[in-house]
Amino acid sequence: MANLSVNFGNFTFNKVLLNASGVLCQDANDLDLLLANTHTGSLVTKSSTPTAREGNPLPRYFALSDQMGTINSSGLPNHGFQYYLDYVLANQFQTDKPLFFSIAGIAKQDNLDMLHKIQASDYIGLTELNLSCPNVPGKPQMAYDFHATATLLAEIFTFFTKPLGVKLPPYFDLAHFDEIANILNQYPLHFVNTINSIGNGLVIDPETDTVVIKPKEGFGGIGGKLVKATALANVRALRQRLKPEINIIGTGGVTTGRDVYDHILCGADLVAIGSTLSVEGISAFERIENELEQVMTDKGYETLDQCRNQLNIIE
Ligand code: DOR
Repeated sequence: MANLSVNFGNFTFNKVLLNASGVLCQDANDLDLLLANTHTGSLVTKSSTPTAREGNPLPRYFALSDQMGTINSSGLPNHGFQYYLDYVLANQFQTDKPLFFSIAGIAKQDNLDMLHKIQASDYIGLTELNLSCPNVPGKPQMAYDFHATATLLAEIFTFFTKPLGVKLPPYFDLAHFDEIANILNQYPLHFVNTINSIGNGLVIDPETDTVVIKPKEGFGGIGGKLVKATALANVRALRQRLKPEINIIGTGGVTTGRDVYDHILCGADLVAIGSTLSVEGISAFERIENELEQVMTDKGYETLDQCRNQLNIIE
């Protein structure tokens, strides 16, 4: 049987899979399920804001047929920063899974305030700073603004010394990969998570000629099979550009074990599952892990290290 453990900076994960923030992680009940599942290596909490948010009006999530993907404009519904901090503090020593705590300030100062609180707390896990939520009306995705991202990181690293990573939006131009990597390489980041949903897609119901979600007149973040190629390109492009000590969580388009393997080939260290988890439920982890092990066995690989970053190109 393949060994699916992952070395990630100073952390070791026994399994390669985790949830993508937003899916099955809003309440303590959901988080408990992820923690107890023997096929997850970790969990990430729902991106939190300083205080609780209701999120956008319903309907705000839709799954396309044939597992093609999902569109969401949830708008960061969450129980507020303290709820998730309490959860990770209560659980961090009850598990051998290193935890990810996700935060997504609406304003720059929100992020700084929350990071100050994490720094002052007893939290020993990893923090994921979400710079890429596409669904707050009137608020662009921070990581598309390179100057604002660089300024924020410069300020964060004047005081923040705990393991930190950023959740990135998909980039679509090689010049943008160069630019974001150049910024991220200047800081002691532990990881990047790529990609968030592809922002501002549009899905139409053919029966009614109507959009399928209410917020932003139907515009929302796309996930699932539809985004796999973009996700792989982002993992690959960032692995080629980021300094080696910045680990990568590959997220996007994972419906099978082969999809996980493809992320690893492109250089992902851990792999997160979003849309498929929302459609299939927690049993997706066991199925996908089994499929991954089969792919590795068929290829003659025993460890993930052997296949990581081994993508072939046509010379
Ligand atoms: O697709 C997403 N939906 N990405 C995020 O970062 C946040 C989430 C939401 O709550 O809208």
